[in-house]
Amino acid sequence: MKLASAILVITTIAWATFAQVHVRQSKSTLGPRQENKKFWYEEVLHNGVSPVGEWSVFRNVKEYGAKGDGITDDTAAIQRAISEGTASGDRISGTFGSTGQPAVVYFPAGIYLVTSTIRSAVGTVLMGNPLNRAVLKASKTFSGTFLLYGHDQRYSGLVGFFHGVKSLVLDSTDVPGETTLGLLEWSVSQNNLLSNVAFRMPLGASGHGGVWMQGLNSGLVMNDLEFTGGSVGITIAATQYHLKNIFFKDVLTGVKISRSVQVTAQGLQFEGCTTGLDSSGGAHGLINLIDSKATNTSVMLSVSASDSAWGAVVVENVVVDDSVASRTVSIAGSVALQGSVDPGFSWIRGSVYEADSTSPQMSKGGLIETSRPEALVNDIGSYHTVVPPTYAEYDVAQVINIKSVPDYPVRGDGVGDDTVGIQAIINLASEEGKVRYGLKILGCKNPTPMVKVGQEGDVGVAQLSDFIFTVAETLPGAVLLQVNMAGSAPGDVGVFNTHFRIGGAFGTKTKTECSNPANCLAARLSLHTTSGASLYLENSWSWTADHDLDGSNTVYPGTGAGYLIESRGGTWILGAGVEHHVLYQVNINNAANVFIGLQEGESAYWQGNGNTLLAPKPWSDSLLESDPDFSWCDPADAQLKLLELRFWTSAYDV
Ligand SMILES: *[C@@H]1O[C@H](CO)[C@@H](O)[C@H](O)[C@H]1NC(C)=O
Repeated sequence: MKLASAILVITTIAWATFAQVHVRQSKSTLGPRQENKKFWYEEVLHNGVSPVGEWSVFRNVKEYGAKGDGITDDTAAIQRAISEGTASGDRISGTFGSTGQPAVVYFPAGIYLVTSTIRSAVGTVLMGNPLNRAVLKASKTFSGTFLLYGHDQRYSGLVGFFHGVKSLVLDSTDVPGETTLGLLEWSVSQNNLLSNVAFRMPLGASGHGGVWMQGLNSGLVMNDLEFTGGSVGITIAATQYHLKNIFFKDVLTGVKISRSVQVTAQGLQFEGCTTGLDSSGGAHGLINLIDSKATNTSVMLSVSASDSAWGAVVVENVVVDDSVASRTVSIAGSVALQGSVDPGFSWIRGSVYEADSTSPQMSKGGLIETSRPEALVNDIGSYHTVVPPTYAEYDVAQVINIKSVPDYPVRGDGVGDDTVGIQAIINLASEEGKVRYGLKILGCKNPTPMVKVGQEGDVGVAQLSDFIFTVAETLPGAVLLQVNMAGSAPGDVGVFNTHFRIGGAFGTKTKTECSNPANCLAARLSLHTTSGASLYLENSWSWTADHDLDGSNTVYPGTGAGYLIESRGGTWILGAGVEHHVLYQVNINNAANVFIGLQEGESAYWQGNGNTLLAPKPWSDSLLESDPDFSWCDPADAQLKLLELRFWTSAYDV
């Protein structure tokens, strides 16, 4: 059997709640959108299991009694679908850890009337049909501050991992505008997904907000969203965020930053807003506003007077109409930039380095000539972006469930070796076997890919969506994902909402046997792009555990490194967090044409002041040519981390 195109669905193989490998010949195989077509994901056999045993992962809210008719109160039924656990307790009450009991709560098309706050739990994806998104509608008499509490209230925002909300509509248009109501409470950090969601609020509603954050959070990306009406679209209280492809229509303030170290706003569109992006009342580090547009809006970007490095602004490739032209950027209420910023220029407030200079000039705001590599931009000079694929164009008959192929048994139980079965099925599905994945790992220090995407020189389509890559034991040679191939268009080779988690979670020995980094070389690299590759990577967290997500074991793996980027054919990285690896978090080595919109990094917490295991230890005897050897370091440099932390803290005292 040979298929021109196919999706492989891996339902809950080990710890991923829902993952897809996609291979196809060309974009021309995609059909037109069909509003009333069923979504294959609704129809496919949901035979994935949780590694903890009997557990219902896929939950269709209609099977829990929700009607979706716009009249019946569906609050209790939706909550049951989210909360259902076992005889020993439900998913909200605190009896489970955070990585063993995932759930996908699916909403078929319809209008679901909600009368009080719905609460999500850790490890939950709430999703609708991308062809016809379900609406969660707050009733006229709604009671509560939030329509949807998107994060698990048992965890603080800084450890709010593993939540998803996608392909839904949240609607408060029936609720009086002066009532205080947030559509989505979203106090979360890495490994979360908020994508393809519309937020509908009444026009001019002074009390309504779309996405609200409380406390301090550390999120990575929000992408492909729409907001209409209301007071504030997104309120940001987080160390960083990459906002991508977001449309604000008739929202008083599109994005309000109350505090952040970095926000990258890419592909934002403001229409009929009072202020597009407002940080004038908050504290911010760098704000990048790029490839964006404002029409019928009074001010596109409003910031406060601070003009230290803390308070930097970069504006590139923005288009404004006459209504905005007099106030593209306002600083402390005074106009700082008028008109559009054409491709080829950056408007900068902050430190600017002349070529070869090591000391910056302070720019108080001015245009500087800059350029972008041709391989990275489209015909109007914007960096390429890709809407994450949902594969909704496909029929269920074109989907291969990796656990339902008779000749190739795949167990997906986290115990049996599934290498042969998965490889055989991928070969079957891929065009002439061009896409090759290898799943064998050797327990030696030679870097060996666990999953390999294509061979050098291959051109085609290979996409990974919604995966978690992990290691079951300490594997000093493991390269979790190696990308070698390129696509013929940006995103053909794409990795979306896919994360790397090493240790600290259910089902890995590195959770319980890893208290000393010197003898726990858990993995070599999380991601490697080789020179012939081109990769679009959006929403990815590479996390070497610094704590046990489900219990209180001490977890300190000494993982080699995070991303090694050596690709030259065009690499786009949007919303990446890379944390606690020993040698480096991201290494761009002999690469070309690399765009990084936002990348957050943290060194390992056990490194630094007072620690004798100074880098490159514990990897000194097996360094690669691309690794830094730290020969330029003085032992006193171990203090550096302390300084870093001081800056971090003081950042919020501004
Ligand atoms: C501009 O935006 C305002 C506020 O949303 C709206 O009332 C008005 O109709 C818009 N004007 C045009 C010309 O679109």
